[in-house]
Amino acid sequence: MDDAALNEQAWTTYGKHHIERGTCLSEPERLDWGFWSTGPGAEVLGDLAGKRMLDIGPGTGRYPAHLARSHKAIVDAVEVSPTQYLRATTRYGDVPGVHFVQADAVEFLQRETAPVYDVAYSVHGLGYIDPHQLLAALAPRVREGGSLVFSVLHTNKDGAGPEVTVAPRDEVLPLAGGGELVVRMWVLSPLLWEDLLVEGGFLLEHISVLRAPEPSNPVACTLIVARRSSSAEGE
Ligand SMILES: C[S@@+](CC[C@H](N)C(=O)[O-])C[C@H]1O[C@@H](n2cnc3c(N)ncnc32)[C@H](O)[C@@H]1O
Repeated sequence: MDDAALNEQAWTTYGKHHIERGTCLSEPERLDWGFWSTGPGAEVLGDLAGKRMLDIGPGTGRYPAHLARSHKAIVDAVEVSPTQYLRATTRYGDVPGVHFVQADAVEFLQRETAPVYDVAYSVHGLGYIDPHQLLAALAPRVREGGSLVFSVLHTNKDGAGPEVTVAPRDEVLPLAGGGELVVRMWVLSPLLWEDLLVEGGFLLEHISVLRAPEPSNPVACTLIVARRSSSAEGE
């Protein structure tokens, strides 16, 4: 099974697990690029009122709903897992300004009908997708000068830091109540992300490593803010 199929299967099992458990998540008060409710939030995305946005891997749909309700954004949220999509649409399917799509993000972006966005973003969704494929499909769908903002894993709970070659690795996805799934993730160094973005037609504006507040917790994420280059900048 290839990486994309394995991830789709794992996230479908994950969503089913939570549907069967009746998991009810609280409403987010803010957007959290890390896992700790501290650090930068939606302000990193700029003024969103009336902006056309793409969420890559929205999971339960909490953030596209939050950005539409609290920031007046218009969001297409593209989720590959049918069970995660079901969780999102069951809870947020009628939120004005949000349109959930069940599709692989690369496949969606390659459709002739895919729109051009002001802002594309992903909170821990983009690291599950081959970055060469994703950025090639995404670049024509972000307007020149538009932004791409995303967070990805940098160091996992076992202290394994990022890779220095563009290759996915196994990571563990724990299941509430016990059990775990294996997923394939691109956990890459900030320098590699920068190279990939520039090759893919984006200019890096800001990159930072967000660390857990407790010094004993090794988990860290990378937050990346990039801008779609104009054709002149790309020459
Ligand atoms: C860690 S969850 C993040 C969910 C959400 N962004 C949040 O922070 O609440 C990652 C999500 O990305 C989705 N995903 C993984 N690969 C994808 C792909 N190729 N296209 C679209 N969604 C994908 C998974 O199904 C999963 O729901």
